[in-house]
Amino acid sequence: MDAFSVRTKIMIGGGMDALAEKIHRVFLVTDQFMAESGRTSYVTDRLLRQGGEFRIFSDVHADPDIATVSKGVGQILEFQPDAVVAFGGGSAIDAAKAIVFFAAREWDMRDCPFIAIPTTSGTGSEVSRFAVITDREKEVKYPLVEDSLLPDVAVLDAELTVSVPPSVTADTGIDVFTHAVEAFVSTEATDFSDAAAEKAIKLVRRHLLHAYQNPEDREARQGMHNASCLAGIAFSNSGLGLNHGMAHALGARFHIPHGRANGILLPYVMSFNAGCSDALTPTAKRYAQISRLLGLDSSSIRQSALNLIRTARRYIEKLDMPSTIQAAGVSTAEFAEAVHDMAEAAMADRCTATNPKACTVEEIEQLYHKAFAGKLP
Ligand SMILES: NC(=O)c1ccc[n+]([C@@H]2O[C@H](COP(=O)([O-])OP(=O)(O)OC[C@H]3O[C@@H](n4cnc5c(N)ncnc54)[C@H](O)[C@@H]3O)[C@@H](O)[C@H]2O)c1
Ligand SMILES: [Fe+2]
Repeated sequence: MDAFSVRTKIMIGGGMDALAEKIHRVFLVTDQFMAESGRTSYVTDRLLRQGGEFRIFSDVHADPDIATVSKGVGQILEFQPDAVVAFGGGSAIDAAKAIVFFAAREWDMRDCPFIAIPTTSGTGSEVSRFAVITDREKEVKYPLVEDSLLPDVAVLDAELTVSVPPSVTADTGIDVFTHAVEAFVSTEATDFSDAAAEKAIKLVRRHLLHAYQNPEDREARQGMHNASCLAGIAFSNSGLGLNHGMAHALGARFHIPHGRANGILLPYVMSFNAGCSDALTPTAKRYAQISRLLGLDSSSIRQSALNLIRTARRYIEKLDMPSTIQAAGVSTAEFAEAVHDMAEAAMADRCTATNPKACTVEEIEQLYHKAFAGKLP
């Protein structure tokens, strides 16, 4: 039996004024930059106007870790809020989700809504069952996947993303594209997750480069915010794939931003999934369907799939992103020491389980080697 659900109420273009009337004692989770730059006033000013109170937890760093989550659990239990607001990129939202998840073991969560306000257009965490937490000691990222991690409300206000610097717009935009493509070819894809993924891909084609080149273009920003959320709905239901499994291991080991790691790997993983170098797989046909959606199809499935792979590569170039692991700043010696462990971590990652093509640790290691030096078929 297949299932599809969207538990989160999505408020498009704003909605915080109305929400602030219903919540009074808020635990606000964000990162240091968002707190110190005063951007959290988007939430706190509205709460103060309604006579509400809040505590800000701003210890979140990129790729939140277990220590940060534990600290947050201690603070939320002490504060006993009547609502939790996660405000920031995927790192802040994932940290907030994990804090609530672990605190709920000791705290009655009834009547405590979880409101997610994304300020990057990338992870789709505001509507997903996923939260990615890093174990810094083991240098591994663990995706928690639970229905209880689904936020109650997501506020999609693209005005908040106008200040996102171009490099983060690029990284997060490629994360959206990867979510949609992996959701579309996942073993658990349905007509319903396809619908969300297809729309996300169309929105990325229309808006990503505009948002990168013209940060103040509100239409492009809202388009990418909606794309991010739709891709989140798609993969929250269908799961992701090997690209995310490998990106988690690569990002945890070498601190490469999540979307950038996805972008480097995507052409290689797509080529592997499609069987480009030997016998074409059924996944090649799925990539060809995406090509048709983007107007890139040709008369052969192989050529259509290759056109999509080249498009992914072209995005990386136009967004001025590194196209190899080496170009992302990893030395040959560091890479050689890490590659086997990364392949094992990618194999064990929850995301890899829904990849359309089965793979071995050796095959994953080979893919990392190709992506290190930049050898595309
Ligand atoms: N839960 C999920 O479903 C899911 C999916 C994909 C990725 N992730 C995880 O999410 C994390 C990455 O999230 P991200 O890509 O959104 O990056 P991020 O949250 O780490 O933010 C990147 C940088 O952008 C800054 N920033 C955020 N909003 C800004 C704004 N409006 N203006 C200026 N600067 C701003 C942040 O301060 C930070 O320095 C990773 O840990 C990744 O593994 C989670
Ligand atoms: Fe992602």
